[in-house]
Amino acid sequence: MSEKKDQDKAKVTLDKLVSLSKRRGFVFQSSEIYGGQSGAWDYGPLGVELKKNIQGVWWKEMTQMHDNIVGLDAAILMHPRVWHASGHVENFTDPLVECKSCRGRFRADHIDLKGACPTCGKKDTLGEPRKFNLMFTTHIGPVEETASTIYLRPETAQGIFVNFKNVVSSSRVKVPFGIAQVGKAFRNEIVTKAFIFRTAEFEQMEMQFFINPKEEPKWFEYWKASRIEYYSTKLGIAPEHLRFHQHGKDELAHYAINAFDIEFLFPMGWQELEGIHSRSDYDLRRHQEFSGDKQEYLDQETNERFLPYVIETSAGLTRSVLMVLTDAYEEEVLGEGDVRTVLHFHPNLAPVKVAVMPVVKKDGLLELAQKVELELREDFATMLEPTGNIGKNYRRQDEIGTPYCVTVDHTSKEDGTVTIRYRDSMKQERVKISELVGFIRNNIKNYKRGQ
Ligand code: GAP
Repeated sequence: MSEKKDQDKAKVTLDKLVSLSKRRGFVFQSSEIYGGQSGAWDYGPLGVELKKNIQGVWWKEMTQMHDNIVGLDAAILMHPRVWHASGHVENFTDPLVECKSCRGRFRADHIDLKGACPTCGKKDTLGEPRKFNLMFTTHIGPVEETASTIYLRPETAQGIFVNFKNVVSSSRVKVPFGIAQVGKAFRNEIVTKAFIFRTAEFEQMEMQFFINPKEEPKWFEYWKASRIEYYSTKLGIAPEHLRFHQHGKDELAHYAINAFDIEFLFPMGWQELEGIHSRSDYDLRRHQEFSGDKQEYLDQETNERFLPYVIETSAGLTRSVLMVLTDAYEEEVLGEGDVRTVLHFHPNLAPVKVAVMPVVKKDGLLELAQKVELELREDFATMLEPTGNIGKNYRRQDEIGTPYCVTVDHTSKEDGTVTIRYRDSMKQERVKISELVGFIRNNIKNYKRGQ
């Protein structure tokens, strides 16, 4: 991408994304009519499609494109001992600092402890940091007592670890193999912020790859390379907006022996998008200790018994929605006072792939447009634009990231062709209605941003 384009990208603000998301039905504030619930967001008609598409591409990449990765969907509520074994009860904490004056709460590692309070500006009012556990607790059953306390999972990974033996004995997987899962996770973050970036309720796409400990360096490198490439090749994210950040010793999570974040250039700067963690045999060993159930794997070929090591790839799904919106957003100046807002989604992610519209509503063109749209529905997410106001329709579809607009005009009735208009370049060409499905499918497969 050119330097100028890069500067334009820097102009994407969170405010613009929040406003577009609300206006066009991507993301709404949770419980808005009651004043909103902080740390929670609702995905509207277009947002839910975008999120499902991101999830779908990831799921395909993991389970369909790798013959040694299988899926799982574990319960959110797990036995409380799981979280003692995993180390989360003891270690999943952030250092909390409170201002004695305004009662503002901050993460000690995010502020200057010797400086003034970031909220009220007063000096010497910040208290001592104390550990704050990020797990939400709730109760199962009718009586609220300590014995009935359970946790909302803070990561989906533990559902995979406790099913390790079930998967080995029920499928034909052999080490090295992976288990992939997508689902909700919850963290009582001290500060939720930046729209859908850091929330209390969010979704993760996690994959635990079980390996022979001897092969740890090889697989760690494999997954690092594979995951960063995935974002540009499969999601169409600009490679210059992605980079690695290796965790220093003080940053490593309690379960990790090595970790790299894939960072993305969000509107508020470079931030973590996905974590690639080398978890050693920490989790299986701890579950073995706490449950008394042996978690060893027997390699049938070598007769070797071992506790597998795990390389984890852990991506935020809801955070990916923010990445995709950020990377796709552009305000393109077409002329004096004429700015078109476009979302350059990769067609695989676009909530609507094809919008079909008549140039005018009369002369049977609306009916023909309806017919074309019905024919495309089986293969693509479509939308009919019935108003006959082509210019406005194009702009509306650009703003929700629809890659193809198909226009039916009087010539269509005569020769069975329509106009296809490309979102990025705004170029148009005529295509036979009978060839439209194959034409669009081929175009999606070979999509390059700007086409
Ligand atoms: N199982 C490992 C794990 O959970 P993590 O680095 O704590 O690792 C992985 O989280 C990913 O989950 C992050 O890279 C981020 O995309 C997403 N994530 C974590 N906390 C989040 C939050 N509060 N809101 C939204 N996404 C979050």
